[in-house]
Amino acid sequence: MDTMTRIAALTAECIRSIWPDQEGLPDAAELRGLLAVPPDPTLGDYAFPCFRMAKPLRTAPPKIAQALCAGWTRTDVASVEPVNGYMNFFLNRANFAAEIMETLEREKDRFGSSDIGCGKTVCLDYSSINIAKRFHIGHLSTTMIGHSLKRIYDFLGYTTVGINHLGDWGTQFGKMICAYKLWGSKEAVEQGGVDALTALYVRFHEEAEKDPSLEDQGRAWFKKIEEGDEEALSIFTWFKDMTLRDAARVYDLLGVTFDSYAGESFYVDKTDRVVQELRDKGLLTRSEGAWVVDLSEDNMPPCLILKKDGATIYATRDLAAAIYRQETYHFDKCLYVVAYQQDLHFRQVFRVLEKMGYPWAKDCVHVSFGMVSFEGEALSTRKGNVVYLDDLLSQAVEKALGIIQEKSPDLEDKETVARQVGIGAVIYTDLSNNRIKDIDFRWDRALNFDGESGPYVQYTHARCCSVMRKAPDFSGVAPDWSALTDDEAQTLLRLISRFPDVVREAAEKFEPSMITRAVTDIAQAYNKYYYEHRILDGEPAGAAARVALTDAARQVIRTGLWLIGVEAPERM
Ligand code: ARG
Repeated sequence: MDTMTRIAALTAECIRSIWPDQEGLPDAAELRGLLAVPPDPTLGDYAFPCFRMAKPLRTAPPKIAQALCAGWTRTDVASVEPVNGYMNFFLNRANFAAEIMETLEREKDRFGSSDIGCGKTVCLDYSSINIAKRFHIGHLSTTMIGHSLKRIYDFLGYTTVGINHLGDWGTQFGKMICAYKLWGSKEAVEQGGVDALTALYVRFHEEAEKDPSLEDQGRAWFKKIEEGDEEALSIFTWFKDMTLRDAARVYDLLGVTFDSYAGESFYVDKTDRVVQELRDKGLLTRSEGAWVVDLSEDNMPPCLILKKDGATIYATRDLAAAIYRQETYHFDKCLYVVAYQQDLHFRQVFRVLEKMGYPWAKDCVHVSFGMVSFEGEALSTRKGNVVYLDDLLSQAVEKALGIIQEKSPDLEDKETVARQVGIGAVIYTDLSNNRIKDIDFRWDRALNFDGESGPYVQYTHARCCSVMRKAPDFSGVAPDWSALTDDEAQTLLRLISRFPDVVREAAEKFEPSMITRAVTDIAQAYNKYYYEHRILDGEPAGAAARVALTDAARQVIRTGLWLIGVEAPERM
């Protein structure tokens, strides 16, 4: 039981002992929610606002606070003081330290985990790159937020399904094949890779302005893909493999994995059924030759289902995908980690599912996020202002290596550490803000070893590991937890004790940045502790307690970094 839950339970007991027959008073669960952390620590570690009880007791809150404090008996847990309408709790510092340290010793790397998700499944649609486009910084957030949420949900006991919903269907692929047949060659594409494909696509559009008949040829090639024509399919599959091979390198660097690569093409043979169902349910209406679902009642533009020529679109395939996922995985939640530009698309798709009568439509969530700019400049593929992710990552690793060579010339295996630090710096930056905020990526900030950055947190972790390496063997010594009653240790302990709540809240709000914040706070608190206290000196029982606290900080930082997808080197 965590401290707040314990305090809530004891407060509930105290209330019942004072007013045994009174109805309408809060129980332990409600009290847990009412307990607050006072902004000013001199007011205590927790505070219970007694206003909630004023009505049932017909008594002024300050009187209630006084009565509660007079009836409080558990001084081993906390002493209490009434201040106006509040009952303020001052934790017994040594017991508080003992409680947390013992929990950590017991749970180790499971600290913060839970089984609240047991038996429940979460599908996560993230990264979802497009075929024949190079992986650029615009797909970093979806990749990392999705990957982190997957780890967070796993940690909470959920079954997770990570899905890379590939953009691998649409007329553009017909155009690409057409361009390849006209101006490309096997060698040129093999050599130029995905860039060569993009170039062919750009050329197609330029030439099509002069010669509109190209559009028809492009459409004809797409039709061939649809009909399963051997040549068209083999070229298309080749393009797809090439893109995925390229992306796999980036995924490897980032440590990102998926359980499924079922993309848009996977749903092509599953859309007929959806269209039929929409028609049977009377939801399809004709609009300028196309078929749509009218959403004017919901103040949204209609959701396009079939184009004039009868072809399905992105939304049709998303409807099929949602139904397929529910039927296959029976998800309790299906998260779509996609940029805010697609807000309307997902509102439309979810609303159509609701209109179709699927009660689980409410379990589909668009996890939206803001834009990434680079060194103050907005990125746009159109203006040619693109930052490719593999370039960004290799630059990050190179810069990290430079810093490490300067700071720790004797470090072994600098390349591995540089990779962990460089990549970690990029991921940390991406997950450092509330996801809906735009991010400006700047090298000086991302790689600032002294600021709020990935390297700073990693460095603190390595510092903890170094203390552990230097510490003597305390296995026969019972730690004296009263050595951890100073302000710095208590601040650190409090942050550590909140970690399990942070993990849960990050899952509830789909917000990995809450974990980034928590590990940063813990790292800062540990460094403050480290500078103010001599960890290995003094009585063995006290030193054993300080070393155990160091190990606790190390563990929670490591777990937190893992949850946001950042590695934790042991030496830096
Ligand atoms: N491929 C799309 C893009 O890059 C994202 C797909 C998101 N997932 C989905 N089920 N629609 O914009």
